[in-house]
Amino acid sequence: MTSRPVIDDLSSFWMPFTANRQFKTAPRLLESAKGMYYRTTDGREVLDGSAGLWCVNAGHARDEIVAAITQQAATLDFAPTFQMGHPLAFEAAARVAELMPAGLDRIFFTNSGSESVDTALKIALAYHRARGEGQRTKLIGRERGYHGVGFGGISVGGIVSNRKAFSGQLLPAIDHLPHTHNLEHNAFTKGQPAWGAHLADELERIVALHDASTIAAVIVEPVAGSTGVLIPPQGYLQRLREICTKHGILLIFDEVITGFGRLGKATASEYFGVTPDLITMAKAINNAAVPMGGVAASRTIHDTVVNSGAPGAIELFHGYTYSAHPLAAAACVATLDLYRREGLFERAASLAPKFEAAAHGLRDAKHVKDIRNLGLVAGVELESRDGAPGARAYEVFLKCFEAGVLVRFTGDILAFSPPLIVKEEEIERLFGTVRDVLATVQ
Ligand SMILES: Cc1ncc(COP(=O)(O)O)c(C=O)c1O
Repeated sequence: MTSRPVIDDLSSFWMPFTANRQFKTAPRLLESAKGMYYRTTDGREVLDGSAGLWCVNAGHARDEIVAAITQQAATLDFAPTFQMGHPLAFEAAARVAELMPAGLDRIFFTNSGSESVDTALKIALAYHRARGEGQRTKLIGRERGYHGVGFGGISVGGIVSNRKAFSGQLLPAIDHLPHTHNLEHNAFTKGQPAWGAHLADELERIVALHDASTIAAVIVEPVAGSTGVLIPPQGYLQRLREICTKHGILLIFDEVITGFGRLGKATASEYFGVTPDLITMAKAINNAAVPMGGVAASRTIHDTVVNSGAPGAIELFHGYTYSAHPLAAAACVATLDLYRREGLFERAASLAPKFEAAAHGLRDAKHVKDIRNLGLVAGVELESRDGAPGARAYEVFLKCFEAGVLVRFTGDILAFSPPLIVKEEEIERLFGTVRDVLATVQ
């Protein structure tokens, strides 16, 4: 492949979630990718330990997906889905619906996880209004939750740095559950911690404070990813489900990271055996090849909203120009075919024990204060440097990148979520590189 010259002036692109000034003094530029590997503009191969941003579950630049997008671009580049349609939109929805828990088979398409979250919150409000309980407007999130960057998402989210600059304009009717992270009880747990299910009972306290009749929905990530891989305690999600059902509150699982095989099943809902009322998704829905997200709604929710309007009236005043964009839909169908043909969810499940052992092999590595994992996700928490939180993990990230391995970091937590096509020797290399790097970092 011929390389394009690297542009000298990096100033125009205001980069997202990036220390722009620092980055632009020493940029890390990726030029191409195939399978498990990126290639940098200076010609180095980098093992992708994070599936891009938790999204390229089938590995990079898969021929089948590339072909589907290419063909679609030449056939139907764009078609509106407002009062119009195109066949692939319906096919993609039906294919996504097949992978959702029974009954959650009505799919609203978006272009990102953030949009999926805001869409799900709006559907929850619309549902209660349609059934005559329009006073149910409160939304309950969780501390340390990440639900993207829309105003809805940061309001129910619980990451202080994402909220504080905008704190004067967050949604007004919000409360938060406590997070479940506790190293005193759960450090170095393999899989789900035994301690912590009782934290779901905090929802009863919140209900007692506000009254159930004012609460529309609870939203949580079944496994919290972006805040540093927080695995739900055994029984916790089941308890949340029971309390929501008891009080007529909708339960939303934000599966933007866990959807499409990350835990070895199509959804975390399936993995944990807990069915929410709404599921948000994005990322691996089409292997991140074209921006796409979605919300799976229960039939009850869908039918209540759709049947509430007068015949001929638009039922939900919500949607995006690019909802079910033809290229995204084509990539989605091709991706879901690939997942099935290659048995990638099952592959993730069968690799999970090996992945767990490799992650926990870092237990005695320098600076490591916790390791947690489930499916093909692991978090390794490091002791922070005095007065410089995040600095140590950033240095590890940089040195790993120099050594040809891409890992994610958030604060002082390293996160691992390779594509589901990862080989055992690549898992060894991933954690082996981190071990070597940790030994060199102060
Ligand atoms: C659980 C969760 N929700 C929402 C989002 C936001 O997705 P996006 O960046 O596509 O808007 C993310 C992104 O990582 C996520 O992890």
